[in-house]
Amino acid sequence: MNSLYTRILVIICFSLPVQLSSAINWSTPNAQETDTGTYVSPFAEANETCFKCHGHEKYEYSNDLLGTKVRALMCSERIIKREEFYISNHKSFACIDCHSAEYDTFPHPGELRMELKYNCLDCHGGDDMYSSFNFEKIDADYRKSTHFKLEEEGFTCWKCHDPHTYRINIRNSKNLKETILYDNAICLNCHSDFSRFQLLSDRDEINLMETHNWLPDQTAHFRSVRCIECHTQLNDSLLVSHLVLPKDKAVKLCNECHSKNSMLMVSLYKYQSMEQRRDGFLNGIILNESYVIGANRNAYLGIASIVIFGMVTLAILVHIFFRIRRKYNK
Ligand code: HEC
Ligand code: HEC
Ligand code: HEC
Ligand code: HEC
Ligand code: HEC
Ligand code: HEC
Ligand code: HEC
Repeated sequence: MNSLYTRILVIICFSLPVQLSSAINWSTPNAQETDTGTYVSPFAEANETCFKCHGHEKYEYSNDLLGTKVRALMCSERIIKREEFYISNHKSFACIDCHSAEYDTFPHPGELRMELKYNCLDCHGGDDMYSSFNFEKIDADYRKSTHFKLEEEGFTCWKCHDPHTYRINIRNSKNLKETILYDNAICLNCHSDFSRFQLLSDRDEINLMETHNWLPDQTAHFRSVRCIECHTQLNDSLLVSHLVLPKDKAVKLCNECHSKNSMLMVSLYKYQSMEQRRDGFLNGIILNESYVIGANRNAYLGIASIVIFGMVTLAILVHIFFRIRRKYNK
């Protein structure tokens, strides 16, 4: 009898971890992007004539009048990182596709400074190939946004989409946290750098920490949501709304996000939720990706609850076993 008792105990104890591990989906950390092959531009060599100066902190030229070599520092705003350029959306371009070919002389001719630059719509407007991006609708949104009035001061789409580094992110994001970081850095480029801000406005410096004082745990929030979640008008037909509203129209109500029908489902989580719906897992997004309070699933809590459940079951089984044994022993 005693040996049967130990056998049952042993079986239960050893099968529990197995059941545990099959009940929990031990998720492997997000497989990093596998495409490690670096892009080789057909213009790589031609671009080097520019990168040899614009790719470093220092550049050299020869002063033909004095017959000397001069070394000087490149101002940081004019440094373009090769690695970033060759992973950007416009990596297949030559520098002189967008800039005058006359830039190959140094010093650069002064009048080039006045050179008119292409804007996004010049190339992408009315092009079916890019219809999924809705450039025209984005442009219309932008024209209603609070930044548009700064166009006279030099604000353009390029101010948020750096011509040399911009790459689409949320559309093919594998890591939402990184995308949030990328998107927020776009805004913080000016909103946490007063010298850039000053180029466009005479307003006093805005202290972001202070103006967002009402939001508890700002750091956690800024890591989990994008600025545009609160500062743009939702737009059903766009993946990324471009209508930045004046500050008094910004989202301040906690339950706009902290509820089951969180607005994040149609903004931050829109792409994932579209994908998941296609796969037939509409709820997957609520259960796995989003941290919508109330619908949150925490892996550690999950494990703990299974362990507790297992132990309680075990205790009950042992208890029943002894009850039965005592009954038969009588
Ligand atoms: C010998 C070094 C050198 C080379 C080579 C060089 N540049 Fe420059 N470039 C500079 C320096 C220094 C400045 C900042 C001073 C100025 O504007 O002239 C500058 C400024 C610029 C500017 C900004 C002008 C403005 O509006 O302020 C652009 C655009 C530019 N370069 C493009 C290019 C392109 C495109 C190439 C390659 C075809 C190139 N440069 C090659 C040194 C160089
Ligand atoms: C897709 C078009 C495009 C390509 C390709 C491009 N540029 Fe630019 N570049 C621009 C635009 C637009 C601006 C002005 C940005 C602004 O107004 O904020 C600019 C500005 C610059 C400036 C001035 C500093 C700055 O960032 O405002 C330099 C220097 C420069 N480009 C060099 C280069 C070099 C070198 C290459 C090639 C590696 C290159 N560009 C490729 C569009 C382009
Ligand atoms: C000089 C023409 C030109 C300008 C100006 C231009 N683009 Fe592009 N863009 C292109 C071309 C061509 C491609 C395709 C490049 C490739 O496939 O290698 C492209 C690619 C893209 C892509 C990636 C599309 C995809 O399917 O991966 C996006 C997004 C994009 N551009 C956005 C912009 C934005 C935003 C602006 C303005 C801030 C802009 N572009 C300005 C010509 C341009
Ligand atoms: C105030 C900043 C800002 C301005 C101005 C801006 N954008 Fe954007 N744009 C963003 C951000 C942030 C994203 C999200 C980037 C990501 O994660 O892919 C984005 C994304 C995009 C995308 C990709 C959307 C998609 O469906 O994947 C396109 C295309 C685009 N912008 C075009 C434009 C054009 C055209 C203009 C000018 C008319 C413009 N943007 C002006 C901030 C801006
Ligand atoms: C959770 C929502 C939320 C997020 C996220 C958020 N903001 Fe705000 N923001 C607001 C609200 C609400 C106000 C208006 C505050 C007030 O007037 O009391 C505001 C105000 C502002 C102002 C105007 C301040 C002034 O005094 O004129 C700026 C600029 C701003 N936010 C930029 C940002 C940037 C940049 C980010 C991303 C790093 C961001 N916000 C993230 C909700 C948010
Ligand atoms: C190139 C610089 C630049 C970038 C990038 C930028 N902003 Fe701004 N933004 C400004 C300036 C300058 C103002 C002040 C406008 C004024 O004078 O009223 C401003 C104003 C604002 C305001 C306050 C409007 C009000 O009612 O007072 C908000 C909100 C805002 N920006 C949000 C954003 C968000 C969100 C992003 C990123 C998607 C962003 N900004 C990117 C320069 C920038
Ligand atoms: C734009 C959407 C949005 C708004 C508005 C918002 N939150 Fe959040 N909040 C989030 C997200 C997403 C997280 C998830 C943070 C995480 O788990 O990493 C979060 C996390 C939190 C947390 C946990 C912070 C931590 O340390 O993990 C608290 C507390 C919180 N929010 C309270 C509030 C309160 C109170 C308000 C209103 C004053 C508010 N939130 C407004 C989206 C929002």
